[in-house]
Amino acid sequence: MPENDPDDIASNPDPREPVGALIERRLSRRAALLGLASAATLADQLVADAQAQVPAQGGPSTFTFNELRHQLSQRDAVAEGYEIQVLLRWGDPILPNAPAFDPKAQTPAAQAGQFGYNNDYVDFRPLPLGAANSDHGLLCVNHEYTNTNLMFRGIGSGSGARARANAEQSHIERLAHGHAVVEIRKTNGAWSYVRDSRYNRRITGETPMRISGPAAGHELMKTNADPTGTRVFGTLNNCAGGNTPWGTVLIAEENFNNYFGGASAGTGPQGAMHRRYGIVANAQYAWGRFEDRFNLDKEPNEANRFGWVVEYDPYDPESVPVKRTALGRAKHEGATHAISHDGRLAFYSGDDQAMEYVYKFVTARAFSATDRAANRDLLDEGTLFVVRLQDDGKVEWLPLVHGQGPLTAANGFANQAEVLINTRRAADLLGATPMDRPEDVETNPINGRVYVMLTNNGARTEANAGNPRPRNAHGHIIELIPPRVGNAVDHAAAEGGRWEIFLMAGKPGQDAGARYHRATSDQGWLSCPDNCAFDSKGRIWIATDGAPRAAGVADGLYAADTAGPGRALTKLFYQAPTGAEVCGPCMTPDERTMFLAIQHPGEDAGSTFEAPSTRWPDFGEVMPPRPSIIAIVKKDGGTIGS
Ligand code: FEO
Ligand code: CA
Ligand code: CA
Ligand code: CA
Repeated sequence: MPENDPDDIASNPDPREPVGALIERRLSRRAALLGLASAATLADQLVADAQAQVPAQGGPSTFTFNELRHQLSQRDAVAEGYEIQVLLRWGDPILPNAPAFDPKAQTPAAQAGQFGYNNDYVDFRPLPLGAANSDHGLLCVNHEYTNTNLMFRGIGSGSGARARANAEQSHIERLAHGHAVVEIRKTNGAWSYVRDSRYNRRITGETPMRISGPAAGHELMKTNADPTGTRVFGTLNNCAGGNTPWGTVLIAEENFNNYFGGASAGTGPQGAMHRRYGIVANAQYAWGRFEDRFNLDKEPNEANRFGWVVEYDPYDPESVPVKRTALGRAKHEGATHAISHDGRLAFYSGDDQAMEYVYKFVTARAFSATDRAANRDLLDEGTLFVVRLQDDGKVEWLPLVHGQGPLTAANGFANQAEVLINTRRAADLLGATPMDRPEDVETNPINGRVYVMLTNNGARTEANAGNPRPRNAHGHIIELIPPRVGNAVDHAAAEGGRWEIFLMAGKPGQDAGARYHRATSDQGWLSCPDNCAFDSKGRIWIATDGAPRAAGVADGLYAADTAGPGRALTKLFYQAPTGAEVCGPCMTPDERTMFLAIQHPGEDAGSTFEAPSTRWPDFGEVMPPRPSIIAIVKKDGGTIGS
């Protein structure tokens, strides 16, 4: 997410270096990475034929595809024998009466009925509810943020374009955020979406939703528009997500700080909390220019109503989404469930910023597999934990419970609501382990291990055992190994777990500390792991965000075994168009389709609406790049990666 948020700059006061120096170094590193004179020059340099393949390397991987060659291209590419189908693009009309996409005449009304921007989390929910159907279902997609410079004419390049958007443009952007539900079908091997389906839905930065759990109704959650502290308009910066065994979907609010500003940011009574969450006076989106609620001088509490995990029911288009405060307030990358030995659920979530933490929320009760209604408010009661990785390989989960340890009135926490609204400070006091930007966290269905994607951390000056590389430019992946009760995994336990490092990213033999399977090829190494998924064999699919373009590497999707002789032997399966990161990934139950969200294509230095670095996926003369969902199928109809 190069232009979205300076995640590499910690707002955890731990790093022992002035923020200015960190910013300067980060910018110069970025300049080196993106130091191509302009987007137009970059476009000239990129090859149009993106189908470069290398022969299989042999070796012990169970994956049979020939891996791709690393390269930068205006186009995307997938391993030989597979096919890319573009399924949903920014602006595609999904609701009744929504117009066809016209990039030169976009309006708020049009955007409200169209597929949103910058798709991240992808979930396939089969239709009907409870079926294992792989040809018909609901695609549930997060819309994380907007690239103002690529959406509108005449606004220039870079993230600075955000503050130049006018009132109508910023309204369009707000409606391009959030989430979409779209009915999709596969017919004769081809995926398409159902326009005007009764299930189709847009959830945006303005959709009314409920606030529940311990922080609902607290003074810090009340605003002029909502004196009860229980109703909020919209969800923002929904990055990764998760789901529940009963078919609801969780959408996580990540870099919410980018939307709220005002002179009192960081200085008023909530100043310390603003600073801890990276809220600054001059917010990137500067929406406070047009809407009072984004101006902290006028609505000091509105920002406290963001940074939560939101649950909604995709099978009921009328359902009101709910912000579940029991899961804590953070830059939630996602929220992935695991079923524990006793039927309770754990929801794992990374707080994606340099030096932040990994959390899990454990429900108080077991879920019901037979009574969907009984699970309705299961996420309102339970215990939030934050992880501490011991140097000797032990894992400790520290409970964020008011009255326990330092989480008392003497330290400024009057009740559990305040622990949750200021989750980061509570975790600081408990002594959690500062991590290298925790992104997605997922459980391997075969070995029960929990995999944490640590994307990179330019702010780290001191290593710890679990984050062993200072100035970690390429990131790494950690396995948390929960204890067992008999044959079942105990995801609820506070103690008894261990951790290991699965791989250290970067180029083997070149980047210090890079570590994979020794047979990993020149094409198979990766940088900046972000989202991941497991197939039913327990093999991991890793999507990246932040590949080193100066080294000629695009972001992509990589596959690796997690056990056996091919453990940590990563292979490049899909390569994104320039500027894009790869999100999802998500497979249908039969594993014959892989959905990927291709986010921010064309997000390169100098890229503009008029002269973008790529016009993927349409390549029309005046068409800007469009963040899109693709479906990858095997040409012979077989299992992905088989
Ligand atoms: Fe939205 Fe942490 O990536
Ligand atoms: Ca992202
Ligand atoms: Ca991410
Ligand atoms: Ca990322």
